[in-house]
Amino acid sequence: MSDILNDALLHTTARSHVEMTHHVLPEFANSLGNVFGGQIMAWIDVCAAVAAQRHCRSVVVTASIDAVQFLLPIKLGHIVILRGQVNATFKTSMECGVSIWSEHPLTGEVRKAMKAYATFVALDDYGRPRPVPPLVLVSDEDRRRSTAAHARRAARLAAAGKEAR
Ligand SMILES: CC(C)(COP(=O)(O)OP(=O)(O)OC[C@H]1O[C@@H](n2cnc3c(N)ncnc32)[C@H](O)[C@@H]1OP(=O)(O)O)[C@@H](O)C(=O)NCCC(=O)NCCS
Repeated sequence: MSDILNDALLHTTARSHVEMTHHVLPEFANSLGNVFGGQIMAWIDVCAAVAAQRHCRSVVVTASIDAVQFLLPIKLGHIVILRGQVNATFKTSMECGVSIWSEHPLTGEVRKAMKAYATFVALDDYGRPRPVPPLVLVSDEDRRRSTAAHARRAARLAAAGKEAR
């Protein structure tokens, strides 16, 4: 196996996988006893940023967070699990997908509570966008996620009044 192939294999989706776990303490809850939405957004941003940085090993900034869906409330005392990964790379940007799960601390039941997509841009030492390594797609699931991410990118750039390059 050549060095080039070895290097390319380092940029699989597995390289960017992130899992974060939080216990929902009172400081994270609103008056309804659910996790405050803004708190979850902050966790999503961190989870996706770590995935993006694991992929490109550069400074990254959040360009957008979209398609946020609150599917279920997450209760005080429950355990929140965030799973993130890079879904697709473009030129200087990457789409990261984050799924958020609520685990009942006593029964162990785990239910999907949220999902979101965040786009990060890699920056060079001068704060300018810099190219990211292409994502190596290994599995059918990788290819499905990448295809869906490309479709979402076209829609989000159109909504932002920007052209895909
Ligand atoms: C994100 C940012 C770097 C883009 O800068 P820009 O001058 O628009 O740069 P470009 O037009 O060259 O675009 C760079 C990349 O950003 C992508 N991009 C720009 N706006 C975007 C948006 N709203 N959603 C998704 N991607 C976006 C472009 O598609 C391009 O990606 P590509 O190279 O893979 O095709 C700039 O807008 C910025 O610094 N924003 C503030 C970031 C920030 O403070 N985030 C919060 C804290 S981290």
